[in-house]
Amino acid sequence: MIAFIDLKAQRNRLGDRIDAAVARVLDHCQFVMGPEVLEFERQLGAFGGAKHVLSCANGTDALALPLMAWGIGRGDAVFVPSFTFAATAEVVPWFEAEPVFVDVLPDTYNMDSASLEAAILAVKAEGRLVPRVVIAVDLFGQPADYPRIAEICDRYGLKLIADSAQGFGCALAGKQPLAWADVTTTSFFPAKPLGCYGDGGAVLTNDDSLIEVLRSLRNHGAGTDKYDNVRIGMNSRLDTIQAAILIEKLAVFSEEIALRNQAAERYGEGLAGAVGVPTVIAGGVSTWAQYTIESDDRDGLAARLREAGVPTAAYYPRPLHMQTAYKSYPCAPGGLPVTEAKAPRVLSLPMHSDLDPATQARIVSAVRS
Ligand SMILES: Cc1ncc(COP(=O)(O)O)c(C=O)c1O
Repeated sequence: MIAFIDLKAQRNRLGDRIDAAVARVLDHCQFVMGPEVLEFERQLGAFGGAKHVLSCANGTDALALPLMAWGIGRGDAVFVPSFTFAATAEVVPWFEAEPVFVDVLPDTYNMDSASLEAAILAVKAEGRLVPRVVIAVDLFGQPADYPRIAEICDRYGLKLIADSAQGFGCALAGKQPLAWADVTTTSFFPAKPLGCYGDGGAVLTNDDSLIEVLRSLRNHGAGTDKYDNVRIGMNSRLDTIQAAILIEKLAVFSEEIALRNQAAERYGEGLAGAVGVPTVIAGGVSTWAQYTIESDDRDGLAARLREAGVPTAAYYPRPLHMQTAYKSYPCAPGGLPVTEAKAPRVLSLPMHSDLDPATQARIVSAVRS
């Protein structure tokens, strides 16, 4: 069976570096907030063009922390795509605010700025909720249309979060999403393009006052010292062992993004004409968290590929606005026709930086036949 995401191959390629990094932490025993955590935050900031980085326990907390810092609460609207992983919307009701679901574009699957603006105007006209935040998602690894989305956020005075759990490292016009967003968040879940060996996440920002509040929130609302609690916070830290692993992974991340792009190019050449192949926004560079094709017979194709030893995944078969937990929340005017049309058609193929041309040729021929 071909691997969907081959973490073992990456581990073999990195050799002893990870073992040595973990061994150093086991020797110094500073398992929580050890020196590797601060060093990783510094290196991630340099990579991500961010003045400040807050590492945290996972990519879901990374979304929740800025909402908490901005005091998002009851009566507030947070605009999110429905075609995303649940975490993007889930953090909003944690604070008794409401997610408002927005449609996506048919070519990139990312937030449709026209649907976003219509949703903001509808919420304002109704007057029940106050528009506060937009969370744009870099779905499958490619940047959302940040210039347009940021312009709308500026016009209506909204904060912008780039949920780059899948797209961390992506770029648009040579810039990372933080060039437009107030914060970028990411996840280091093992299957993500930059993953650790457990759970982890981070918030990146250039905002000096926000980072102070985020640091306090991550540590139970600490003030001047550990036992001075100035606000209600939480416990959300990246383990030192995970930071040590991430330092080694970050060192090869740019190279891996290039390898993923080469694999995507090979898929594109092999599959064009047979199935719908992905389109990247003009001027964009994807990290290819997923390589997602479209088919009229998605489930049939998935079953045939499984028989041929090719694993696939459907992200996301049921959009959030149609899920039991989320169906009572508002949607953009006119509903989400693109989201609903895409959900039954999308199928993600094996994608990782160690995907060799021979394995890919097998996958391509299985899809084509
Ligand atoms: C778009 C998106 N946002 C947020 C998350 C949440 O990240 P985590 O699983 O680290 O909490 C994920 C990952 O699973 C994701 O794909």
